[in-house]
Amino acid sequence: MNEDEWDGAIIRSLSEEWADRIIFLPECASTNDEAQKLALKGAAHLSVVLTETQTAGRGRRGQPWACPPGEGMACSVIVRPHDPPVIWSRIALAAGLAVAEALDSFGCSSGVKWPNDVWINQQKVCGILVEAGSGFVVIGIGLNVNVTRFSDDLAFPATSLALEVGTPVSREDVLVACLNRLRIRVEQIGSSFPELLKSWETRCVLRGKEVSLLSGESRKLGMVQGISPNGELVLKTTSGIEKFLQAAEIRVLDDR
Ligand code: BTN
Repeated sequence: MNEDEWDGAIIRSLSEEWADRIIFLPECASTNDEAQKLALKGAAHLSVVLTETQTAGRGRRGQPWACPPGEGMACSVIVRPHDPPVIWSRIALAAGLAVAEALDSFGCSSGVKWPNDVWINQQKVCGILVEAGSGFVVIGIGLNVNVTRFSDDLAFPATSLALEVGTPVSREDVLVACLNRLRIRVEQIGSSFPELLKSWETRCVLRGKEVSLLSGESRKLGMVQGISPNGELVLKTTSGIEKFLQAAEIRVLDDR
């Protein structure tokens, strides 16, 4: 085993409250799939599935997600919201914001790219895949912690926390920081959502940018105005103000 890899002892050394909630699997197809199975069997709120190696890690829109063993972080958090399902889409915003805030404590300045990517210096450092089940939501987090090399065929420029801060970073510390922020932010999707939204908007890397948004078969060009109270992306297009809840892909056209 590579000495940088997760193992049971490392997990047990984490703060007690998280150590007890983490289910560590050395290898699995996808932590989101494992978390869903556990949630269906009744796993508690804030149970976490963590792995070293995903053999079929997936991103949004069915894209594969690569997470190099010993370097990346792949985990899924089970959330059982007490708010109604109609507002669960806000969890995607809460998750991206939580990770961005956690990364700041390692000395970088990160932003959120709607709906739930985390970017540093115009490059993607973390992708989040949120999937809802009956009575639960799974938040899958793929974070480039100490990754130094990326595949050439990625759709977006990619970076890692280590590349941005110039030194390897403890994956345990990153995991705990993300979980701590996540717990706080997912509690805010109900009556505290305006506060969450305000923090999210101050980190929004798309604000005021001209973007091309590919949603299903249609492509829209527009200027990002912000996020609606429902967490929709608000674009000013040639037909006026339009709102989008789900986006296939957003590309920034100008970078002023
Ligand atoms: C994206 O940007 O498209 C989302 C990527 C999400 C990847 C994470 S890694 C942990 C969890 N398990 C998966 O199979 N996917 C998510």
